[in-house]
Amino acid sequence: MKAVVVALGKIGLPLAVQIARAGHEVVGCDIDDRVVSLVNAGKEPFPGETGLAEGLKATVGAGTLRAQADTTEAVAAGPDLVVAVPPLYVDAAAKPDWETLDAVTAAIGRGLKPGTTVVVETTVPVGSTRARLAPGLEKASGLREGTDFHLAFSPERVFSGRVFADLATYPKLIGGLSAAGEARAAELYREFIAAEVRELGSAEAAELAKLAETTYRDVNIAYANELARAADAWGLDVEKVIDASNSQPFSHIHRPGVAVGGHCIPVYPRFFLEGAPEAQLPRVARDVNEAMPAYAVDMLGDVAGQTVLVLGVAYRGGVKETAFSGAAALRDELERRGACGVFSDPLFDDNEMQAHGYPVWDGGPVDAAIVQADHAEYRELRPADLPGATRVVDGRGVLDAERFDGVAVKRIGRP
Ligand SMILES: NC(=O)c1ccc[n+]([C@@H]2O[C@H](COP(=O)([O-])OP(=O)(O)OC[C@H]3O[C@@H](n4cnc5c(N)ncnc54)[C@H](O)[C@@H]3O)[C@@H](O)[C@H]2O)c1
Repeated sequence: MKAVVVALGKIGLPLAVQIARAGHEVVGCDIDDRVVSLVNAGKEPFPGETGLAEGLKATVGAGTLRAQADTTEAVAAGPDLVVAVPPLYVDAAAKPDWETLDAVTAAIGRGLKPGTTVVVETTVPVGSTRARLAPGLEKASGLREGTDFHLAFSPERVFSGRVFADLATYPKLIGGLSAAGEARAAELYREFIAAEVRELGSAEAAELAKLAETTYRDVNIAYANELARAADAWGLDVEKVIDASNSQPFSHIHRPGVAVGGHCIPVYPRFFLEGAPEAQLPRVARDVNEAMPAYAVDMLGDVAGQTVLVLGVAYRGGVKETAFSGAAALRDELERRGACGVFSDPLFDDNEMQAHGYPVWDGGPVDAAIVQADHAEYRELRPADLPGATRVVDGRGVLDAERFDGVAVKRIGRP
């Protein structure tokens, strides 16, 4: 099989390696020249993806994977499969900005040859593959979907950092615009996915499956957060309560926390709501989760005029990514209450933090601290690492409270 993978990011690049490693010939396309030259040198353009360095070395070394900037040219060579997984950026209210996805669709369309199957993996609102992406490909190519080429949707469901392990185990969902297109896309995916490739009967079902699983997590976390707030009022330990509830097979309650961040879980419930405006639960869940940073600040008491250290600008531990990070909500909340928020993160240098709009902690004394991200490094923290802090809110339950003798450490939902 000959394949083209468009957008060699945290998801696209491991996918390109996966296809090449299964013995196929892959051209990866990315507009970022730095990414293209690093991939062609067999080097990973970003850290943290297990097995990527080895996979790149093996496939680029064997000549089965190479990268280039020009998507149209790669698609014009007439591959069997084109997989596109560019980002779909959103504004602060999670409204999609279609510019990148439209540009990628047009670039693919300009090179598209009869017989090629295109699969989009970027998470989109329900109906987008049929109503937006197919017309975009048809317009740029002059070809007809279903007659000259096929278009299908297959949601990317992996967790960055362990993409290869997830690709090996999670069923790969595929939905086509026609039965023939879906069958062809599934046939091609079975060439490189060892796990079940599950045909869902329509692109819309596959689009909704991704929104359903991510919205489920948001709603579940919101419920855990409400339990935690009630536990705080009752003086109970929500961790013990959730563990106890989950000890029978019908309860799967998630964990409470200071924020739900990243470009997936806070965003996709909004995509769902855009198509299903009468739905109530996802909307309420969003409100509950978005109120958690303010709740964490409440737990510190009056912070006016004080310096509060926020540990972690990444949206979660171990990932160098700030999209919809709880750090931004904490920064705004602290400012609203007249406190001075200062920030630190082991994954970001001072310039990077400033560029993201976070005042950098100079290591000097602070009045209080909030743990925002569950970085592994924070498990080792001691009071001396937070000089002057008399109150600490551990928003992720990572601190070793026994080390904090003499400092009030408060965890969400735990006495
Ligand atoms: N990262 C995750 O954990 C995750 C999980 C599930 C799903 N996803 C899905 O994957 C999509 C991509 O996410 P990601 O984390 O890989 O993004 P990313 O930011 O890591 O990478 C995006 C890549 O796209 C490239 N790009 C941008 N415009 C392009 C264009 N016009 N042509 C070619 N390349 C272009 C960029 O240069 C970059 O290398 C998301 O929108 C989401 O739908 C991501």
